[in-house]
Amino acid sequence: MNDKFGRKLEDLRISVTDRCNFRCRYCMPEELYGEAFEFLKKDQILSFEEIHRLAEIFISLGVKKIRLTGGEPLVRKDVTKLIGSISKINNDLDIAMTTNGYLLEKYASDLFQVGLKRLTVSLDSLDNEVFQKMSGKKFNVDEVIKGISKAKSEGFENIKINTVVRKGVNEKSIMGLVDYCRSEGHILRFIEYMDVGTLNSWDIENVVNSNDILKIISNKYKLSKIEKNYPSETSNRFSFDDGKGEIGFISSISNPFCDNCTRARITADGKLVTCLFANKGMNLKSMLRSRKSNKYIISEIINMWKLRDDKYSLERSKSKIKVKNKIEMFQTGG
Ligand code: GTP
Ligand code: 5AD
Ligand code: SF4
Ligand code: SF4
Repeated sequence: MNDKFGRKLEDLRISVTDRCNFRCRYCMPEELYGEAFEFLKKDQILSFEEIHRLAEIFISLGVKKIRLTGGEPLVRKDVTKLIGSISKINNDLDIAMTTNGYLLEKYASDLFQVGLKRLTVSLDSLDNEVFQKMSGKKFNVDEVIKGISKAKSEGFENIKINTVVRKGVNEKSIMGLVDYCRSEGHILRFIEYMDVGTLNSWDIENVVNSNDILKIISNKYKLSKIEKNYPSETSNRFSFDDGKGEIGFISSISNPFCDNCTRARITADGKLVTCLFANKGMNLKSMLRSRKSNKYIISEIINMWKLRDDKYSLERSKSKIKVKNKIEMFQTGG
């Protein structure tokens, strides 16, 4: 099943909740998502049974990798049960999660036991003050670090650490994170601050280019470019010449990777979106709740994928297009 540019549907990202315990400025700025903000109600988000059924449908369509995201996936009650049920669908399925790590110490053991295969933790600084500035809460970064250590000791290997860099805020945290990840055996990836959603006041002036980060790190370490693990990988990889560890750059602004994008996303309220920067999605929840057959749902997904022509990051870099009413990052799950 190919889209208009010959891209297959291989990778499904499911947002299990729009809620999050953090308020990162680049995603959910506190002043807009305060106490009064109304998140989705329980009956508006997909149930575990509905997510499980969709996972089966997408796997039957060729999906090989499912990543659970949020908001923050670990704030959804009993999310480990959902992972357990999805991981039983198919032994070969690569099932992963992206988390902010704050609740990881509590859940790492259960996550490993129920069959989660890979873990990505967002962490923007090791310096508590900078961490709090980035995450928008007065939480202690030590909780995240303890969570990552616990996950490693429970058996998770090659944990990925995602760091979004904002100019003038956490650039000084770069080298600390590099040294920490090297010594712990984690794969650190720097993400260029993206113009996702509409409410994070994104400005190109706040973006730190991957090349500039590479230069900073190269002052201390010799790095060599290495092949992507698979063509649709988001990250450009580098290894340290001394053989200790690898590092990556997710350069959606300076070096878009739409040509090989095989990712589809399901929002917490059950919409299928075919680009991180989409402003609309197909309502799978209403199909499930109006008792449509798997056959019907599958044909709707195929029709949508065949018409897919999304290349937002590439087009934006060429023509400065603007999409109105883009879905927010905490809704699509990043
Ligand atoms: P694996 O390769 O399976 O480990 O996953 P990944 O590299 O896709 O990991 P992850 O989910 O951590 O993605 C890293 C970050 O890259 C996300 O948090 C987003 O910020 C960004 N990203 C992921 N997919 C896309 C995409 O399709 N388009 C754009 N522009 N950014 C993306
Ligand atoms: N730009 C880049 N990355 C972002 N993330 C969230 N919002 C943005 C943004 N505007 C990243 C987080 C996390 C993942 C879920 O998405 O850092 O790693
Ligand atoms: Fe929460 Fe992740 Fe968004 Fe930060 S980036 S507010 S941790 S969903
Ligand atoms: Fe895929 Fe859209 Fe991201 Fe391009 S901008 S890589 S098409 S999700």
